[in-house]
Amino acid sequence: MSHFLWFLSAALSLCLALCFLHFRKKYSFWRELGIPFVPAGFPLGNIQHTSHQMLDLYKELKGKHPIGGVFQFTEPVAMITDPEMIKNVLVRDFRHFYDRGGYADGTHDPLSGHMLNSESDRWRVLRHGSSPIFSTGRLRAFFPEMLRMMDEFRAFLDAKLASEGETVELKGMLGQLTTDISVRFLLGGEGNNLNAPERDLYQAITNGAFILPSLWKQFLMTCYRSVAKKLRLRVYTRELTEAMKHLVAKTIDDRAEGSANACRRINLIDQLLKLPGFEGKGSLTLEEIAGQVFLFVGAYETNSLTTFYCLHELAQRLDLQQRARACVLEALDKHGGITYEAIADMPYLDQCINETLRKNPPSINLIRVTTEDYPVPDSTGVVLPKGLNVVIPVYAIHYDAEYYPDPERFDPDRFAPEASSNRTPYTFLPFGGGPKNCIGYRQGKMHLRTMLAMLLCSYEFSECPKIIQGTRSEKHSVLKLKGNLWLRVRKLHRMG
Ligand code: HEM
Ligand SMILES: *[C@@H]1O[C@H](CO)[C@@H](O)[C@H](O)[C@H]1NC(C)=O
Repeated sequence: MSHFLWFLSAALSLCLALCFLHFRKKYSFWRELGIPFVPAGFPLGNIQHTSHQMLDLYKELKGKHPIGGVFQFTEPVAMITDPEMIKNVLVRDFRHFYDRGGYADGTHDPLSGHMLNSESDRWRVLRHGSSPIFSTGRLRAFFPEMLRMMDEFRAFLDAKLASEGETVELKGMLGQLTTDISVRFLLGGEGNNLNAPERDLYQAITNGAFILPSLWKQFLMTCYRSVAKKLRLRVYTRELTEAMKHLVAKTIDDRAEGSANACRRINLIDQLLKLPGFEGKGSLTLEEIAGQVFLFVGAYETNSLTTFYCLHELAQRLDLQQRARACVLEALDKHGGITYEAIADMPYLDQCINETLRKNPPSINLIRVTTEDYPVPDSTGVVLPKGLNVVIPVYAIHYDAEYYPDPERFDPDRFAPEASSNRTPYTFLPFGGGPKNCIGYRQGKMHLRTMLAMLLCSYEFSECPKIIQGTRSEKHSVLKLKGNLWLRVRKLHRMG
């Protein structure tokens, strides 16, 4: 008996000692590589959901070396703090940073198999296959549709103002409008969230997209992927998965029935159905298509987020709002109404959009993984090993006073032509960069400009006591507000 106890405690101590050595080894990664780092301890490391804005880590590491070391749980992560090095990662040496290393399990969590998480060839096929829906011709053809939907939105808002008074919750309304526009643009269908009570798609997406899994799931998904896969961990809820599969199946059915729909032209699903399948299958599966559609519809949410962040800023600075409105009206006069050309000719509105995206980049960080050993081109002889996580702290860079003095201030003149051209390149990255940049960039820009132009020429926005000051959600991997956004909205008598 006593022998047995003795043996047990010896085995236990040995285990603990081995674990200790294992994690000590992991946490000495950056020291051994000779790169400045922020020390971290078991098990959390130093980048977590609460610090995902990275301001403190960035400040501590910037200027010491183009790369700084941090840890996510027990895994080393290279934080890029130098703009020249950012250019190397995103563009010049792109082939060394070809993947994002996101956790994906196409079998048990179908939505996670989307393009943002796809690697190597799979990413290339999906990216290439989806690109045609963003062609200039298609964006132009969609413009009148968007105007029509915006007009319906204005009528909806007018009715609301008339019946409920001037204080309006805008976040939900803009979110529903944006979901409708996305479904129309991507799939050719009628979303109709605003007027019909069919709110489930918008609700499913706001509840389920970009949500961070619980800490222990994140831990396994980051550090012990094979265990996470054996346990069949999911990021996305069944509700959201079913909603997306239903949407895709319905679109494919409508298509088979040949329903006469002017906006069908080429849509995302037609494009995806043309692709060869993966792993020997003839075409993509319903689940795989649902994953892509989910990413695209979900990504649209960034447009409504950006619109209301911008209105929120302009509601606090009526002088700037007046200037933005004047710029919109001038373009409408010049081009004889709200046309595709007019929308692209509103420089001050663009400055406001850029300043909004600087302060609120929906994508807080850009993520890459080294797909080949990477000799750092600064002659110190450091080689980043294959498989290393890399993060570009966009939010932190956007709040760096060296590039943006007094960073908390909303000042669209930071993006006046001269100020812009004097700024260090690769310090404004709301849409990422290089071959993996945002595929929806041009569509997103057009959408943002149209929404803001049409809202600003019809309404004045100001703060009201009910406003929720921008507390940010810590549960999401993108920048979101926790609360709702109430503003006072006054109808103006000039319509674009
Ligand atoms: C304000 C609007 C938007 C912002 C700020 C934004 C931002 C971003 C960022 C930062 C990335 C990652 C880029 C990188 O890693 O270098 C990205 C990727 C992506 N975005 Fe957007 N986005 C916006 C709108 C949209 C829209 C409207 C769509 C869809 C129509 C979209 C679809 C995508 C897709 C599919 C990717 C993955 C691209 C790839 O892996 O190749 N985005 N976006
Ligand atoms: C806004 O930023 C984009 C880069 O995302 C840039 O190409 C554009 O020129 C900027 N516009 C203004 C008005 O600064």
